[in-house]
Amino acid sequence: MADLNVKINNLHLKNPVMTASGTFGYGLEFADFVPLNEIGGIIVKGTTLKAREGNDYPRMVETPQGMLNCVGLQNKGVDYFIEHIYPEIKDIDTNMIVNVSGNSPESYAETAEKLDALDGIPAIEVNISCPNVKEGGMSFGVTCSGASSIVKAVRQHYHKTMIVKLSPNVTDIASIARACEDEGADSVSLINTLMGMAIDIEHRRPKLSIRTGGLSGPAVKPVAVRMVNDVAKAVKIPVIGLGGISTAEDAIEFLMAGATAIQIGTANFLDPQVTIKVRDGINEWLDSHGCKSIYEIINCLS
Ligand SMILES: Cc1cc2nc3c(=O)[nH]c(=O)nc-3n(C[C@H](O)[C@H](O)[C@H](O)COP(=O)(O)O)c2cc1C
Repeated sequence: MADLNVKINNLHLKNPVMTASGTFGYGLEFADFVPLNEIGGIIVKGTTLKAREGNDYPRMVETPQGMLNCVGLQNKGVDYFIEHIYPEIKDIDTNMIVNVSGNSPESYAETAEKLDALDGIPAIEVNISCPNVKEGGMSFGVTCSGASSIVKAVRQHYHKTMIVKLSPNVTDIASIARACEDEGADSVSLINTLMGMAIDIEHRRPKLSIRTGGLSGPAVKPVAVRMVNDVAKAVKIPVIGLGGISTAEDAIEFLMAGATAIQIGTANFLDPQVTIKVRDGINEWLDSHGCKSIYEIINCLS
């Protein structure tokens, strides 16, 4: 058995496989299918300062090799999380990480500060693909200044590991990653979903209620691998890769491209045990290729 342990800042992961926010609930929903303590880290649903209803239905549609969603960060807010969810998940023996979203630097910072006080949450993942209400709804994560404003505000109020989740809907993702690193991010994760649209041709209207949504699943994988490689070459902090991973071979591509850990999202909907299967598959691959440690394949491209 190869050594699968990895480190993201001062977070210790027993293996590099994590779950992606919004696709694995709070972990508990999957407890009947997967031994949660065997997953390297669980990133729970997007959490905001105040409760959010999410968008109208339909908000998910299948597309070739993927899906579009416009769920819209439906959640009951950080105070509800702390009071009702945290007590249920705090003793799960893995890294329980909260994905934080917001509509202003202040709202991100306030949410992060509340989470900083929770002993059972060793890290947050800051989702910067959220609309900036003061700038006409453009996502913070599509400009260096927007990304910096969030990371800087959160860094002042959050003292544990801060992972910043990057938007792929940009021209030069490496420059955004560098801006986040410069403001004190401990790690970056990528990619969030790619903006897309699908049309019901019989009714001549968009299939999703708000016209567009985020594309995820195998269709996005080559874009994600390229972006992970671009970012890994541009920053010194560890990179977490995701986008379309459903097999161990997919995960190994991301690791070789420069990711220290990976996340699995949409594939959980098809197979709730996919995380453990990917972990076992990575292990078998390392054994069959004579590798003693996962670090032998991280960022190993010639
Ligand atoms: C239904 C759904 C909900 C999501 N919710 C969030 C979220 O709350 N916060 C976030 O940062 N990403 C969210 N994502 C994006 C995923 O975490 C992930 O970045 C993306 O789906 C790409 O990975 P995948 O192809 O493995 O699914 C969501 C994705 C889906 C499909």
